[in-house]
Amino acid sequence: MNYDEEIKKYSSILENEKYKELENYIAHGRTTTYKHSIDVAKLSLKIADKLKINVNKDELVKSALLHDLFLYDWHHTPKGMGLHGYTHSKTAAENAKKIFGINDRVYANILSHMWPLNITKIPKTKEGILLCIADKICSIKETFIR
Ligand SMILES: [Fe+2]
Ligand SMILES: [Fe+2]
Repeated sequence: MNYDEEIKKYSSILENEKYKELENYIAHGRTTTYKHSIDVAKLSLKIADKLKINVNKDELVKSALLHDLFLYDWHHTPKGMGLHGYTHSKTAAENAKKIFGINDRVYANILSHMWPLNITKIPKTKEGILLCIADKICSIKETFIR
């Protein structure tokens, strides 16, 4: 599978004006949240592919592309939002619903991507588990490999 080609199919998300704001925010290290989200989507597909896990590709890619759509600089979390690590998955899920009209499963996948930090929001779908794993791998790489 060509992962770049798979992601390119989502131009309605990637070229959305609101979504492109992610280019202005840093995820970790020098990686923007825009690039981070695409990398997480590609890695999620790749893991599913290599392990031959039968997934809903569309829901997996959407969940990954939109999982960090919280739209603020998390290094300076706005006052009253609570701790970023705990709150941003809900903020991202709400934004994704408002802007892209995602379904309930994609919403739940985004909401649970910070597990086990958010101990009660457990990923319940294969796609949610893949997102959770791929996000952690990408985040660690971005933090330590410059
Ligand atoms: Fe996140
Ligand atoms: Fe992330």
